[in-house]
Amino acid sequence: MAQAPPDGVQRTALGVAMLRARESRRADRLFDDPYAQAFVDAAADSPGPAPKAGADAAAPGPAAALSAAFYARVVIRTRFFDTYLTAAASGGCSQVVLLAAGLDARAFRLAWPPGTRVFEVDLPGLLAFKDAVLAARGAASQCERTTVPADLRADWPVALAEAGFDPARPAAWLAEGLLIYLTAEDAGRLLAGVTELSAPGSQLSFEHSPVATAALMDRARQMPSLHRYASLWQGGLGEDAPRWLADHGWQPRFHELAALAAGYDRPVPVQARGGFLTALRAQP
Ligand SMILES: C[S@@+](CC[C@H](N)C(=O)[O-])C[C@H]1O[C@@H](n2cnc3c(N)ncnc32)[C@H](O)[C@@H]1O
Repeated sequence: MAQAPPDGVQRTALGVAMLRARESRRADRLFDDPYAQAFVDAAADSPGPAPKAGADAAAPGPAAALSAAFYARVVIRTRFFDTYLTAAASGGCSQVVLLAAGLDARAFRLAWPPGTRVFEVDLPGLLAFKDAVLAARGAASQCERTTVPADLRADWPVALAEAGFDPARPAAWLAEGLLIYLTAEDAGRLLAGVTELSAPGSQLSFEHSPVATAALMDRARQMPSLHRYASLWQGGLGEDAPRWLADHGWQPRFHELAALAAGYDRPVPVQARGGFLTALRAQP
């Protein structure tokens, strides 16, 4: 029998995998994740409830519109962060740290420059489930992959150092689908830890949706297919993220989701607002 997927916030990673599996089936897909469906299948085979397949995706009105926007956000962000990470690795960041890696299969599906080390940090239960599914599939990583079971609100830098991360060398950091699940205080503490471990030339990226208003978040909490995620949202750094980065020695740049989607030739609903921040660690 398949290993049970973990509960709570860790289970949100399954919802993202479901959307990546859906995108991977499209003829005009923006990426191909051959492991996403395996995670979803393993969760469905295991004891405990399977993730709901977009319960209100077919429903008319605002629920369907918000579900479509959520799908679009995950797809565009996956493609954008694929490009960000491979460009950073090719540009000299030979260490890649996926903060809250979830069921992200980039270590397996992207072409990494030789010598790239990818560290996947997430909670222990999630990583155990992920590795069991990947092992059952005989998945082989395209880089030197190291999992780091740790709580990103606690002493994760020690766990990362013990896993072999070298703070003297530049790294590409990614916090995808994470900060919104943290309070502003925890998000600030996490990014301060990232900053301390970032040699000049390091890069950092995460989502930034200054127009994701409290009203929009409240609406998402009312919808069956989004309630699973939205009930766990704590807001992260919110609107302050660019200033936070600039104040802590990073050079931030905003990338608007709608403009990226147009560049990918993928129409997205108007609700899919916001975008992404990338930031470069300058010389001190
Ligand atoms: C929505 S998923 C995103 C996963 C992945 N980045 C992606 O986009 O596919 C959120 C992830 O954050 C992880 N997470 C949430 N809080 C965490 C914490 N305090 N420490 C470590 N991981 C955490 C969960 O386990 C889950 O894998």
